[in-house]
Amino acid sequence: MNNSQSSGGPSQNIDLNEEQHMSQFGISINGFCLQAEGNNPSSPGRIATGSTISDPDFVSEEGGRTFQYYKQGKYFLPNDGVEQNRLDLQHEMFRILLDGALAAAPIVNPGYVLDIATGTGLWAIDFAEENQASRVIGTDLSKIQPSRLDIPNCSFIREDSEDPWVFPWKFDYIHLRQVCTCFADTKVVIKQAFDNMNEGGWIEFQDSSVQIMSLDGTTQGTRIERWSQLMGRGLMALGRDANKARFYKQWLEEAGFVDVVENKYPFPIGPWPTNPKFKKLGSYNLTNVHEGFSGISLKVLAAAGLSGPETDELVTQALEDASNPQIHALWPIWIVYGRKPFPWETKYFPARPPNLRMWPSEYHPGPAT
Ligand SMILES: C[S@@+](CC[C@H](N)C(=O)[O-])C[C@H]1O[C@@H](n2cnc3c(N)ncnc32)[C@H](O)[C@@H]1O
Repeated sequence: MNNSQSSGGPSQNIDLNEEQHMSQFGISINGFCLQAEGNNPSSPGRIATGSTISDPDFVSEEGGRTFQYYKQGKYFLPNDGVEQNRLDLQHEMFRILLDGALAAAPIVNPGYVLDIATGTGLWAIDFAEENQASRVIGTDLSKIQPSRLDIPNCSFIREDSEDPWVFPWKFDYIHLRQVCTCFADTKVVIKQAFDNMNEGGWIEFQDSSVQIMSLDGTTQGTRIERWSQLMGRGLMALGRDANKARFYKQWLEEAGFVDVVENKYPFPIGPWPTNPKFKKLGSYNLTNVHEGFSGISLKVLAAAGLSGPETDELVTQALEDASNPQIHALWPIWIVYGRKPFPWETKYFPARPPNLRMWPSEYHPGPAT
């Protein structure tokens, strides 16, 4: 079964042919081939976003940016209107990537749904609206989600997901998106997800790496590459490996999830691809980096040893590179999901290869009586 097709996920055959793989600017990532356009991009489109929701408890720091007060210092990116705008735009970008879908895992009518580190809560709100029989809970360190919703099946809780979970119910689908900078130990969160999930439930990561790359070498030696390397170094100094998405599949399997699927996709920076979907994504992403680089760099580049003026200079240079159509930068995106097995699966098939997709129905012994 092709899970991404069954759940409306992206098709894999975009611009994919031998000629493009061979061409000078065709770059390939996990079966995708992005073709770069030589001309200058038109100005990026902008989506309408909601109004800023101020966290009732926040701390103001340099440059007038605000950060969460709850568990102060635990998270390093701002929570103010500029950041909220960036998160809303990112939400739109993930919907484009998944061809409108909110999930790639083959979920069917999940009862309780948890969106860990929900940010502005748009994913949770959209999911609740599209799945009215589900009960959707979004959690975050910052209280920047709408408090009075017309959507009765969606609510938000302020919580640190690395603290012990005390939910009175078990979840059928747990979603984590753009969380690579959030947790000191992601395995703790995965373990809690496993323990707080119904058998047959799915967990899904949709995450990027902070490491900017290109598959045609055009980012080599650039200032945007230096920015991303220093961001990686700064986050590591702050106790966050922001390139950890490559381990999610392994960690899910180690925690006991089965049917684990990993797919990688590109988030181009700038509208350089010729493929219309990825051109649009790149265009949105260019707006995203112009809105976001300054805020997300503030604390992280300081931790990498840069002074304020050095950070400002590097951010300006990185943004110039991001807007340069000759530089075909992208962030790799990992979509990784897995299923909590039923007890009979581990009882009757203890040596089951972790990556085997669904069991044929004739081997399905059904629930224990
Ligand atoms: C990059 S944003 C992603 C937001 C959202 N998932 C999305 O895709 O739009 C990361 C969010 O994680 C939250 N966060 C960071 N560490 C957290 C933690 N330990 N527990 C809960 N939320 C956390 C931050 O407050 C922030 O809103």
